[in-house]
Amino acid sequence: MVAPRRHSRWLSPPVIKPQLVRLHISGMNACTNRSYPVARAPSKLTNILTTQHSLPAELLDSNLTIIQGDVKSNSSVRSTLYHDNRLADIIIFGVGSFPKFQSSLFQPVTLDDPHICGDAMGVITNTLRAIHTEQHNQGMNTASKPLILAISTTGLDNSRDVPFVYLPLYHWLLSIPHADKRVMEETLAAACGNSSLPPVGDFVVVRPTLLLDGPPKGNVRVGWILSPESKSRSGAHAEEAPCPAVGYTIRRSDVGSWIFNEVVERTDRNAVWAGKFVTLTY
Ligand SMILES: NC(=O)c1ccc[n+]([C@@H]2O[C@H](COP(=O)([O-])OP(=O)(O)OC[C@H]3O[C@@H](n4cnc5c(N)ncnc54)[C@H](OP(=O)(O)O)[C@@H]3O)[C@@H](O)[C@H]2O)c1
Repeated sequence: MVAPRRHSRWLSPPVIKPQLVRLHISGMNACTNRSYPVARAPSKLTNILTTQHSLPAELLDSNLTIIQGDVKSNSSVRSTLYHDNRLADIIIFGVGSFPKFQSSLFQPVTLDDPHICGDAMGVITNTLRAIHTEQHNQGMNTASKPLILAISTTGLDNSRDVPFVYLPLYHWLLSIPHADKRVMEETLAAACGNSSLPPVGDFVVVRPTLLLDGPPKGNVRVGWILSPESKSRSGAHAEEAPCPAVGYTIRRSDVGSWIFNEVVERTDRNAVWAGKFVTLTY
């Protein structure tokens, strides 16, 4: 989310890493190392960072600008993604909604907002498209396009990325949340497609298994499949994918660490991870 390792004045990676999964959507400028998360209640986010994770307020002040707003609001999203005529380099999307039970045998679990991820990703890609068009019309350089990393889930396709005992849970109990995540993934992949003004440079989809709280344990198993678009590319993206990593749980802090180390910190992140659906588990 913030900071190169070599600058002591920045937050040290081990301190900031566990926060990543809790950031709803955050535009990050890799040049200034500043992050702009959207939060409906900024004080809630600040409170989590300062009390649960003991981050000094001055470190947050120097690295974070929290945008008060909703991820379904074009203006909030625009404020997160565009500053001083410059687009965020990396957008981290970790939006979710609270599950709730409903009286349906076939779909017993829904969400407070059953379309939150698909809708929010639509707002983000449309906002990027609008900014790109504006820049283009003003003769500005439109070469730089952000990488979007979206946190999704396992169990969405036929890639056998969930353990056998999870199959009823994932395919029956969670069918509504999963439908929303599918729309999110499809919207994201389409935004990297072949339109004349693609708003997204590239994407990485992270698919963690069931999330738990607690400090990072390490020993994360990583697997992936390639998006259909990536399979048709040449070069580094054309490699054979190993297969998804299959497991039961992973802590939020380890997902955050992986995202931080492998995507935020790596300068070769696009070459290594773009176009991949990455499963993370213990
Ligand atoms: N829980 C699991 O086992 C599991 C498994 C696989 C993948 N995932 C995915 O991993 C990610 C993190 O999951 P999580 O359980 O840590 O978090 P979560 O409870 O799913 O929620 C993530 C955040 O999204 C924010 N949010 C929701 N609607 C918003 C809106 N309209 N505007 C702005 N912010 C909004 C919430 O902010 P507020 O603080 O304002 O409520 C919340 O803090 C999610 O994308 C989730 O779908 C979860």
